[in-house]
Amino acid sequence: MADDLLIAKGTKEEQYEALLPQIKALLKGEDDLIANLANITGALKEQFNWLWVGFYLVKNDELVLGPFQGPVACTRIKKGRGVCGMSWLKAATLIVPDVEKFPGHIACSSLSKSEIVVPIIRNNVVLAVLDADSVQLNDFNVVDKKYLEQLADLIPMNI
Ligand code: SME
Repeated sequence: MADDLLIAKGTKEEQYEALLPQIKALLKGEDDLIANLANITGALKEQFNWLWVGFYLVKNDELVLGPFQGPVACTRIKKGRGVCGMSWLKAATLIVPDVEKFPGHIACSSLSKSEIVVPIIRNNVVLAVLDADSVQLNDFNVVDKKYLEQLADLIPMNI
């Protein structure tokens, strides 16, 4: 059984610095993708208490909802649509300080105010995206980008 997560206090950097090794430990020895993605969303939700955090997986040229924590969400997103589809298309992390100002943003929850989407890339191909939504405006910055990209690189993408 996994140990309880130690929830760090302090700056965002300190929180990520404490969380990432614990996520690494959670992933160790487990090669099931869904199990690993599920635990990652649990860990991120516990540490940061974002409104929504989860994965969309590229399947048959669409993003399909994967493991997540938070309110129910739309299940399929086309390439280039919304923040997730745009992150996939551009193969780049997108930070959206105010979702209402992002043209084409897909509002899964009216409570979501800001968002970050990080692509998970292997061999120059986007295999999935990690999406986090906050009830606060401007909740994500380059610190989230740095650490969530590190996290994206850690995940064994056994598809
Ligand atoms: N807002 C996202 C859709 C996914 S939900 O936020 C969970 C988007 O615009 O792609």
